[in-house]
Amino acid sequence: MWPHHLQLLRDPRTGEALSLQIAKTHPSGRVWEGALTSPTGNTYRIENGVPRFAPNDKYTQSFSEQWHHFKDTMLEPEQLKALSEFIETRLSISPSDWKDQLFLDVGVGAGKLMRLALDNGLKDAIGIDLSYAVDAALQHFINDKRVTLVQADVFHLPCAPGTFDLIVSLGVLHHTPDCHQAFLRLPPLVKTGGSVAIGVYGGKGQLKHRVAAFYRIFFSRLPRSVMFQISKIAPLLYRLHRIPVVGTVFRNWLPAPVQSTITDEERELAFFDWYTPSYQSHHTKPEVKEWFEEARLKNIRVLGDVGVRGWK
Ligand SMILES: C[S@@+](CC[C@H](N)C(=O)[O-])C[C@H]1O[C@@H](n2cnc3c(N)ncnc32)[C@H](O)[C@@H]1O
Repeated sequence: MWPHHLQLLRDPRTGEALSLQIAKTHPSGRVWEGALTSPTGNTYRIENGVPRFAPNDKYTQSFSEQWHHFKDTMLEPEQLKALSEFIETRLSISPSDWKDQLFLDVGVGAGKLMRLALDNGLKDAIGIDLSYAVDAALQHFINDKRVTLVQADVFHLPCAPGTFDLIVSLGVLHHTPDCHQAFLRLPPLVKTGGSVAIGVYGGKGQLKHRVAAFYRIFFSRLPRSVMFQISKIAPLLYRLHRIPVVGTVFRNWLPAPVQSTITDEERELAFFDWYTPSYQSHHTKPEVKEWFEEARLKNIRVLGDVGVRGWK
């Protein structure tokens, strides 16, 4: 972490400000080993450059392995361009919206959204993730003084209320045990006039999602090394899905990533991501809009299936 980001962090248990003890500094200047301590005596270690507010990765082990295995998969310029278009049409965030913003990335993964945000002129950012993805992401941002990565649970966020200009959680909250309650943790952390945007899975109740949920029972229990091998069939499944008529049957009974523009490696990543998580839920636009209204966010924009942005 960077010492100048200390003021953005809080004890997730008590909400108190924290003090920083530095044991070792990385050549970049980043605090590498040390601790964060609250006045009531709670201590959180800083290990390998990352404050650890969660004792381990709990139910997100699949993501810990996924984001180390596919650390660089989504960061090529053409992939970031596609992401930028996706974010604009799905979350209503245009490239100019990142400029000079104080940003919280909830569920940072390997950091593709963080990369896009930094490239578009972000001021400062905290990226949090419950999994050891934070260690993979850190390798991309080690020298960037704008980014501190933190291992923490969305249900116990270690951040000060009313702090951020923009909070985004892309493809994360539907992988928690309670997507709705996880979302409600975000609006208190945004400034008045700031915004919160989330992208969660749509397609609630669709046959292919129910079939995939059944396969997930088995796949999520397999050794991850085996699942990395099985994921290699994703490009083949995609080609089967494109066969007229027969493809429709395959699409429902052997679901796999269907996007036409992604690379074979992205297809493997998407397959692994689809079948290994402990939790995966699907939602509707009216449902997610209601969550934003419940959080008293205004000017709510509901796009895509399902991407929503609202302002405080
Ligand atoms: C599908 S990945 C998306 C990562 C990134 N937002 C992206 O779009 O590439 C979902 C991420 O959510 C994280 N996650 C799941 N449950 C979480 C929780 N309770 N708190 C914080 N992060 C969580 C996982 O560890 C994983 O990195």
